[in-house]
Amino acid sequence: MLKYPCPPNLSIWWNMGSMLFLVLGAQILTGIMLTMNYSADEQLAVVSVDYIMRDANYGWIIRSLHMGGASMFFALIYTHVARGVYYGAYLKNPHVWYSGLTLYVLSMGVGFLGYVLPWGVMSYWGLTVITNMMTVIPGGARALDWFQGGFVISTVTLKRVFVLHFLLPFVILGLSLAHVLLLHTNGSSNPLGLDETNFSVPFHPYYSIKDLAGFALLLAGLVGMTFTFASLTADPLQWQPINKMKTPAVIKPEWYFLYAYAILRSIPHKAAGVFTMFAAIVGVAIFPMISAEESFQSMKVCPPARLMFMIWAANFMFLTVIGAQEPTGGWVLAGQFGTILHMGTLAALPLVKLMWESELYMPIEQEEKMGVL
Ligand code: HEM
Repeated sequence: MLKYPCPPNLSIWWNMGSMLFLVLGAQILTGIMLTMNYSADEQLAVVSVDYIMRDANYGWIIRSLHMGGASMFFALIYTHVARGVYYGAYLKNPHVWYSGLTLYVLSMGVGFLGYVLPWGVMSYWGLTVITNMMTVIPGGARALDWFQGGFVISTVTLKRVFVLHFLLPFVILGLSLAHVLLLHTNGSSNPLGLDETNFSVPFHPYYSIKDLAGFALLLAGLVGMTFTFASLTADPLQWQPINKMKTPAVIKPEWYFLYAYAILRSIPHKAAGVFTMFAAIVGVAIFPMISAEESFQSMKVCPPARLMFMIWAANFMFLTVIGAQEPTGGWVLAGQFGTILHMGTLAALPLVKLMWESELYMPIEQEEKMGVL
């Protein structure tokens, strides 16, 4: 870590990885503290969360930090992935990209399982919607019964959710270390996306100081959020006792899953919706596969891809807004439009880059063949 050679021009976008580590550590710590007062039981879960918020010493701070931390974690992941896409960081070492993608999918699982634990209205109906997705694969209905521990969601299911929510962050921690180990085999990319092997600076003190500055900003944000808007990311419906006979008008996840949820809902066919949503989530996996050997890494030097990137990012926010609306009338159409745009830009981004590069390289190759160069 101390002597690790780094490009000298890394920008703020290279701070997200270390910040993710910090938030992961904070989540594990606050999570363990919450565990000491939480009860994974259908009758007791809401009561135990209420106890944490009102009676346990500083319980509300711990819980608010944990809820705010989850939001921060996903905000950081999305910026981290967008940085990778924009600067073509996936080209340098695809193993880093794929380990990151696995981390993202695991983190989504942990985030979702955590939302179930307070056992409010959204927890129950969210769990119902998401676990029912299993039924679209052959044998999925049996697997669902097996996961639920019966034919309906019950305390048994809640206990399983809790065990997984507790265990998986440690898997994420281990995999994150592997992610950074893999990164250190080829080294970091850089904002220019050009080969920098002839000039590098040691990680310490240049980037150790820069990462510490990032930590200070992040902690200020997290603490500020906890003490001023403690319930910013909390859904009021989570305090309503579950009614298993009455589905709420709008079932929606936390903001960080809304884009995927909007995609799931915009396709009327259940199986097609589930598969499209998964494709939308892990779609960036194709990026390292579609690239020219002599590829520039950064989109900075490829204006058409840059434009496409902006559309992709703006559409992500558009889908996030749509995912929170009641799925009726114009919202359904808007969701379908957003879904087509998301899948289209995902597929087009690497292709546009490839075509732009072949336009640039082709004349040189032709000139080489003609003996001009
Ligand atoms: C728990 C989640 C994650 C943690 C703790 C983590 C941590 C890190 C750290 C510390 C770095 C080096 C510093 C930096 O470039 O920011 C890094 C780099 C990188 N990460 Fe992640 N990461 C996570 C998730 C992801 C995801 C979801 C992806 C993409 C799908 C990803 C892709 C990458 C890539 C491509 C690099 C190399 C950047 C370069 O070449 O400069 N990571 N990660």
